[in-house]
Amino acid sequence: MLTTKLTELLSRAFADAGYNPSYGDVVVSARPDLCQFQCNGAMPAAKEYKKAPFMISDEVIDILKTYDEYGTIIEEAVTVRPGFINITLTNGYIAQNTITIMNDERFGISLTDNPDTIVIDYGGPNIAKPLHVGHLRTAIIGESLKRLLKYLGHNVIGDIHLGDWGLQMGMIISEIERTQPTLPYFDASHTGDYPSQAPFTLENLEDIYPRVSALCKENEDMYNAAKEATYKLQKGHPGYIALWKHIVNISITDIKKNYERLNVDFDLWYGESNSQEYIDDAIAVLKEKNVLRESDGALVVDVTRPEDKKEIPPIILFKSDGSVIYGTTDLATIYQRVKDFDPTHILYVVDSRQATHFTQVFRCASDNGIVSEDVSLEHIGFGTMNGKDGKPFKTRAGGVLRLSDLIEMVENNAKEKIVKNIEDKGIDTSSDDIDNISHIVGLATLKYADLSNYRMKDYVFDLDKFSSFEGKTGPYILYSTVRIKNIIRKLEAADFEKGELLPPTSDVERNLMLKLDQLESILTIAARDRSPNVIAEYVYELATMVSSFYHQHHIINEPNIEQKKSWFSLLSLTLDVQTTCLDLLGIIVPEKM
Ligand code: ARG
Repeated sequence: MLTTKLTELLSRAFADAGYNPSYGDVVVSARPDLCQFQCNGAMPAAKEYKKAPFMISDEVIDILKTYDEYGTIIEEAVTVRPGFINITLTNGYIAQNTITIMNDERFGISLTDNPDTIVIDYGGPNIAKPLHVGHLRTAIIGESLKRLLKYLGHNVIGDIHLGDWGLQMGMIISEIERTQPTLPYFDASHTGDYPSQAPFTLENLEDIYPRVSALCKENEDMYNAAKEATYKLQKGHPGYIALWKHIVNISITDIKKNYERLNVDFDLWYGESNSQEYIDDAIAVLKEKNVLRESDGALVVDVTRPEDKKEIPPIILFKSDGSVIYGTTDLATIYQRVKDFDPTHILYVVDSRQATHFTQVFRCASDNGIVSEDVSLEHIGFGTMNGKDGKPFKTRAGGVLRLSDLIEMVENNAKEKIVKNIEDKGIDTSSDDIDNISHIVGLATLKYADLSNYRMKDYVFDLDKFSSFEGKTGPYILYSTVRIKNIIRKLEAADFEKGELLPPTSDVERNLMLKLDQLESILTIAARDRSPNVIAEYVYELATMVSSFYHQHHIINEPNIEQKKSWFSLLSLTLDVQTTCLDLLGIIVPEKM
C-alpha cells in the first residue's frame, strides 16, 4: 500500500528532523485534484514543539530531499500553509507499485495474522411465514460481511438462525388440530411412526399462518390453545414434533429457493429450535449466579445499568405458562455457539429496531458468564427500506411485499431495459441468456441500492433511480465492467497478449492506478466498521475511473504495441479487482448486457 510506504518515509524524515516519528502519517489526499497524498503531522507537532507548522514541514521536506527515495519514489513534496505536506509520486513508482499488485492473486492484501472465529447470524426468516422485504437487508448486508471477513482470512460461520420455535409454530399446530382433529399427530394412543407425507402443502401453510394469527387476535380461546401447543411442542410432544418437522421441511425448501435467487448462502441452517437442548444448561448458569427473579409469574433477569440513558427492561426467560421465548432461545444459542465453535465474535445482522432485545441478551449472557467477556457480541443493526412515502416499503394495496415479488419486479424491470439495449445494438442473444442477464442485473440493482447506503440509514427504494444505467447504480457499475470484458474479448480475439505495465501517460490512467492501490485500506475499513457501503462506494469510483480511461485511450486502435499491451494489463487488473469487490458485495458480473 502506498500510504504505508510513504508513512515509513515521512516518519523517518520527522525523526531525522528531530521530531516524533509518529507525526509522519500519510493519507490519500482529500483533494485528489490538488495532490495525491498528504501528511498533516506538522500541525499537531507544532503544538508539541511550539513552532509554526510550516517551519516544521519545511524542515521535514528538506530532509526528505536528501533521501535516495526523493526522485525515485517521491516526485515532489511541498508545504502548503499552514503546514500540510503535499506529496506527488513518480510515474515510474506508481507503475512499479501497480505491477506488485498485479503479480499477486490477492492484490497484495495479506491474510490476517490473527484470524478471528466469527459466527455471523443473518437472514433470520421465520418458518411458515413468507419472506418479505423486511428480510432483504439482513440477507444482503450479512452475506456481504460474511464474504468480506472470509476474504480477509477469518474463520467465519454464517448461520441463518431460522425462526422455528416460537408462538407461530404453536398457532399453526393448534389450527391444524382444530380443523383436522383426526390426524394421528393428535391421537395420544398413536404408536409407531407418523406419516412421512405432510398433511398440507406450502400453499396451505402460507394460508394457515395469516388466518390463524388474525383469529388469535380476536379469539382468546384460540390464542390460549396456540400458547399451549407451543408449550407442548417445546416440551417434546411426539405428535407435535412430527407435525412441526413437516412444517419446517416444506417451508425450508421454499426459503432455500428464495436465498438461492438472492445469491445468498449459509454454512449453517440452524434455528431457534436447535437451542432447546441447551436451555437447561444456560439457565443453570443463571441459577448458579442467583440472578433469576420471578415477576408476575414469569422468570426474568435484570440487566439495567446505572449509565443507561433509556430504560432497558429485564429479559424474560420463561413466560408464566412456562414456555420459552425469543430472548431465551437467543441466550441458549449463545451457549451453544460457544460450545460448538468457541468464537471470538458473534455478529447479529438484524434490524435496528431489535436493539433493546440484543442489549438484554448480550448483557444477560456476558454479565453472568454464559459467554466470556472477551467474546465480542455485536448487534450489526440497519435501518428500513422505505417506499416513496417514507414508510416501510409496502405493496400498492398497502400489504407487506413478499420478497419473491420484489425480486420479480426488479428482474422484469431489468429485462425491459436489457431487451431494448440488445435490440438497439443488434447483439445476438438467446432468450435464455436474456433471462439470465435480467436476473443478474436485477439482483445487482437490488443489492447495490441497499449496500450503497450506510447500513444504519433508512433509504427510499426508488426503482426508476436504482435501475438506471447511469449514476450510482448496480446496472451502471455492471455495464462499465462488462465493457472492460468486451474490450478484452476483442484483444483476445486478435490474439493479442498482455505486456509489461508502463508508467501512466495521463491523469486518468494515473488516477486509476492510484485507485487500485486503495483496495486494501478500503477492505480494512469496511470490515472494521462492518460497513459494506465503503466497498460499494469504491466500486463506483473505480467504475467511473475505468470508463474515463477507456474513453480517453482507444486501446483497440492504439498503434504503439508496447503501450497497447500495457493498457491490456491494466484493464485486466481493473476487471479482476472490480469483480472481486463485486463478489464481496454478492453481486455477479454477466458476460454481456
Ligand atoms: N427471526 C427473527 C425476525 O424475523 C430474526 C432473527 C435474528 N437473529 C437472532 N439471533 N435473533 O425478526
